Amino acid sequence: MKNVQEYIKQNKSRFLDELIELLKIPSISADSSYKNDVIKTATAVADNLKKIGCTAVEVCETPGYPVVYAEKIIDDTLPTVLVYGHYDVQPPDPVELWDNPPFEPVIKETLAHPQGAIFARGACDDKGQMFMHVKAMEYMIAQDDLPCNVKFMIEGEEEVGSENLGWFIERNKEKLSNDIILISDTGMIANDVPSITTGLRGLSYVEVEVTGPNRDLHSGLYGGAVANPINILCDMIAQLHDENNHITIPGFYDKVHELSSAERQKMAEAPFSLDDYREALNIEEVHGEKGFTTDERTGIRPTLDVNGIWGGYTGEGAKTVIAGKAFAKISMRLVPDQDWQEITTLFSEHFKNIAPKGVKVKVTPHHGGQAYVTPLDDIGYKAAEIAYEKTFAKKPVPQRSGGSIPIVSLFEKQLGSKTILMGFGLNSDAIHSPNEHFGVWNFLKGIQTIPHFYHEFTRLKLAEGNS
Ligand code: BES
Ligand code: MN
Ligand code: MN
Repeated sequence: MKNVQEYIKQNKSRFLDELIELLKIPSISADSSYKNDVIKTATAVADNLKKIGCTAVEVCETPGYPVVYAEKIIDDTLPTVLVYGHYDVQPPDPVELWDNPPFEPVIKETLAHPQGAIFARGACDDKGQMFMHVKAMEYMIAQDDLPCNVKFMIEGEEEVGSENLGWFIERNKEKLSNDIILISDTGMIANDVPSITTGLRGLSYVEVEVTGPNRDLHSGLYGGAVANPINILCDMIAQLHDENNHITIPGFYDKVHELSSAERQKMAEAPFSLDDYREALNIEEVHGEKGFTTDERTGIRPTLDVNGIWGGYTGEGAKTVIAGKAFAKISMRLVPDQDWQEITTLFSEHFKNIAPKGVKVKVTPHHGGQAYVTPLDDIGYKAAEIAYEKTFAKKPVPQRSGGSIPIVSLFEKQLGSKTILMGFGLNSDAIHSPNEHFGVWNFLKGIQTIPHFYHEFTRLKLAEGNS
């Protein structure tokens, strides 16, 4: 029997080739013109799971894109791990900012990845990270090193809010029953600073529309005499933060779980360099809520950001016009114990309240979800901690991420399961941005670490049962 390191060494180039094949398919869930490619990717994932020896492999239909299910049940009396991931990706635009086409993967060295990184949309988020689990499973089946039961649930709508996953889970509770959920769809601090994500923020995503006069107007003939929807929208957005960068929506902070100073001190132990942070982003200074550090601003505090704003004339040259309408897309990142639907309502009411007479305001909620925190005393977290210690030769640091995977809190509600977030991406991997990439070293490190998690979790779970 080969150990996992030997197995990886022998199969490394095939692993990379197989991942590259997956990355070539543009599975953009947000854009319906890619529908066939999204479905093709589901089939490709299912084929990969079949090839490594999983059983009950199924491309399960939903009202939206299919969920790929697979399992390897070795013994009903042993613990079961459910692996979740997503095969859909973000749109690649603006495509002209990519150094290589987003769906023609290439391996290139970078400063953070001297051993090379795979450049493609979805390389890190999440095809590359999801595929680490497929290859770790391949090793465990091939070398007879699987200590427990494993189920896979890989969805195709994560990047558009997982609208049908709740539907799927509700109808397949028995099939999906498990002792712990394992996800690699987050990041870590640095390759020499392993960390485990212990928190995800919740989300409320809304679109706003401000309507002024019944048509676009000449900005000279009417300018100064009617409300300009774009001016008004900017003014209203500016009012959503005060001079300390607190959000001004009444009731917004009412349910925010405040951390004790001991908890904040513990958090501050995670290595963080403000200089490196500023330099990596080419900014002179960071910006955010007064009284909180950068890690706290993204990890434990709620935020509000405009993600897009448009209206009026944006073409070449100048056109003197007061547009009849202005629009913006706004996201609010939430923390325990804020309720995303309640926050959406608070936002809507407030945004309509602050609109001056002379404009009409419409707020359309998109998607959302609750924040999630992994308890550090959970045996799943302990198992992950030991697994990282074995492969990184360092104790991993717990870290709250600013990102969201809204479905995680739903997993707990619907299946009663805790989730462990073993992410191997770096913040500099440019997920959702042009030139997204995933370190080859990170990809292989993930494959190496995952089997240790299964072993440690099984050991701790069985010991818990016997005590
Ligand atoms: N994998 C990300 C979330 C993520 C990345 C969490 C890095 C922590 C660290 C996921 O695919 C994602 O992009 N989520 C969206 C929300 C979703 C509803 C579209 C997000 O966070 O914006
Ligand atoms: Mn993701
Ligand atoms: Mn994403």
